[in-house]
Formats: sequence, C-alpha cells, structure tokens
Amino acid sequence: MIGVVGLGNMGYPMAVNLLRAGYKLKVYSRHMDSANVKDVITRGALPAYSLKELAEECDTVILSLPSAQASNEVVIGENGLYESLAPGSTIIETSTVPPSLVIKLNNILENRKINLLDAPVSGGRIKAERGELTIMVGGKKPVYERSLSILKVLGKRIHYVGDLGNGQLIKLLNSFMALANLFVARSCCLTARKKGVDLSLFKEIINNSTGNSWIWENWIPLLINGQEVKSKIKIALKDLSYAQELFQSNTPEWELIEIIKTSLKNLMTNEEEDLSVLFKDVWLL
Ligand SMILES: NC(=O)c1ccc[n+]([C@@H]2O[C@H](COP(=O)([O-])OP(=O)(O)OC[C@H]3O[C@@H](n4cnc5c(N)ncnc54)[C@H](OP(=O)(O)O)[C@@H]3O)[C@@H](O)[C@H]2O)c1
Repeated sequence: MIGVVGLGNMGYPMAVNLLRAGYKLKVYSRHMDSANVKDVITRGALPAYSLKELAEECDTVILSLPSAQASNEVVIGENGLYESLAPGSTIIETSTVPPSLVIKLNNILENRKINLLDAPVSGGRIKAERGELTIMVGGKKPVYERSLSILKVLGKRIHYVGDLGNGQLIKLLNSFMALANLFVARSCCLTARKKGVDLSLFKEIINNSTGNSWIWENWIPLLINGQEVKSKIKIALKDLSYAQELFQSNTPEWELIEIIKTSLKNLMTNEEEDLSVLFKDVWLL
C-alpha cells in the first residue's frame, strides 16, 4: 500500500493518478474534511487519521509538503513516520526542500533501515494532473529502481541524478530560473500593455521568438486570462529562499533572488494567494 501525505495542489493530482493506475492508497492530512481528501476517498483511497496509522500499513510513503519544517515534522517529529514505518520501507520526498534536510533525514532514517528518495518534481499542477511531471531523483540506485514503476505514474521524464540531495539542488536551480523568468515576463507584459500592445498578439509573437520559455508557454496563457496557475506565493517564496542558500550572500545571484522575493512580497496581500495575483495590475490596465 502507498501512503500519501500532503494533498494540496501537487499531492492531490498525484494521488488521483496513482488511484487511476490501480494502486491502493492510504492518505493523511491534518484536515481530513478538505475537498481534496474527500475526493480521493470517494475515488477509493483509504483514510488514515494519524501518521502512525498510515505508516503501519504502507511500505512506500509519498510526501508533498509545503516546507522543510513540515517535512521534518512528518518524518522525524513526534509520532512521525520514523517511529512506525517498517524497516525496508521507502519515503519518496517529492516536496522541494533544502538538500541538507534530505541528507539529515536520511542519516536518521538509516538507523531504522528506512529508505529515502529525494524526488522533487517540476511541471506544476498542469503536468501533475497529466502525470507528466519531470522528476529528479537522488538516493540509492536500487531503491530508485524499485520505486520506478510508481514514479512513472507521476512523471514522464524521470532522471536518476546520483547522491541524495542532488535532486533538490537541481530543482532549486530550476525554481530560481523559472521564477526569475516569471518576474521578467510579468514586467514585459505590463510594459507592453501600458504601451497599448494587445497581449494576445504579444503572446503569439514571443511564442516564436527567443524570449519564449516554459513559463511563457504554460503559465502566461493562463495568467493573461486571469486564471490561476495553482501555485501559491508562499511556495515560490520558499523555493527562492532555499535557492538563495545555494549562493553566497551579496553575489549577483543572491541579490537577484532578493529582488524577486521583495517584489513578490510587495505584490501579494497574503502568502496563500495563487501566483496569478502577480498579473492583477496587468489585467486592470
Ligand atoms: N504548486 C506547484 O506548482 C509546485 C510545482 C513543483 C513542486 N512543488 C512542490 O510541491 C510541494 C507541495 O506544493 P503544493 O503547491 O501542493 O502545496 P500546497 O497546495 O500548500 O499543499 C501542501 C499540503 O501539505 C499539507 N500539510 C502542510 N503541513 C503539513 C504537516 N505539517 N503535516 C501534514 N500535512 C501538511 C497541507 O494539508 P493540510 O493543511 O490539510 O495538512 C496541504 O494540503 C512543495 O514543496 C512545492 O515546492 C509545487
């Protein structure tokens, strides 16, 4: 049985795809009455009312949590997975967390012979729903190979990247590139709109020009139409903060991340908001 902890924007579509693929699931959330949890239970997942209950019945547990603090708490906190998972079981950490955290958790989990894979994902809600995520996996190769059939349900491109922590390193660099890209795309859309350029035309031209990007192709069509991208500001700020730790302070990279973080904070009204609020001033023009 597979356990899933964290049924938010990413964990929910992953759980749905695993159920569709015929896996038996047990799910835990701090809010078992949430719409996402209710929906996966309707689709056949079994509820777990504690991490202990989930850990006692699952040999693989997938985490999709919003912060290092949450992952730490779920894995090694009081009544966490560490206490109740059987030796030989595997935790697949799909959340984005600092590489140092997965290394620390693994050192502790090894005492009980519990395996950990570092498997952050890229592609956002859209690719998660389609089972087309890109997944970068660090950890012991035999554990990776044993988990591959599960990972293949979640993603289309699964990359084994060697040591534990390498997956998170690559993911954080990717988040930095993506969010820097979003930041610039927003400024360009705003400038184009202020100068009276039609945004649909602008979108079409950039689609076939050197300014194109993943963000441009996948998120900008939603954002300029006022639709959500199902990624919260707090997740972007968290990724940027962890990415910033990879660079020495006051280097140009560190400074750029600081500028993007400050802009996001100035544009939001609260951290739970979807990243689409960044385009509010573009729609209002
Ligand atoms: N959204 C994206 O576009 C995207 C793309 C790639 C990667 N990611 C990564 O995927 C991870 C999840 O992101 P998300 O967008 O799905 O976040 P989210 O929508 O905020 O979902 C996180 C889930 O974790 C649960 N949770 C929070 N703290 C918990 C705790 N202490 N114990 C148990 N459950 C807890 C929450 O449910 P309860 O409060 O009900 O427990 C919530 O459903 C993040 O690490 C993010 O960086 C996100």
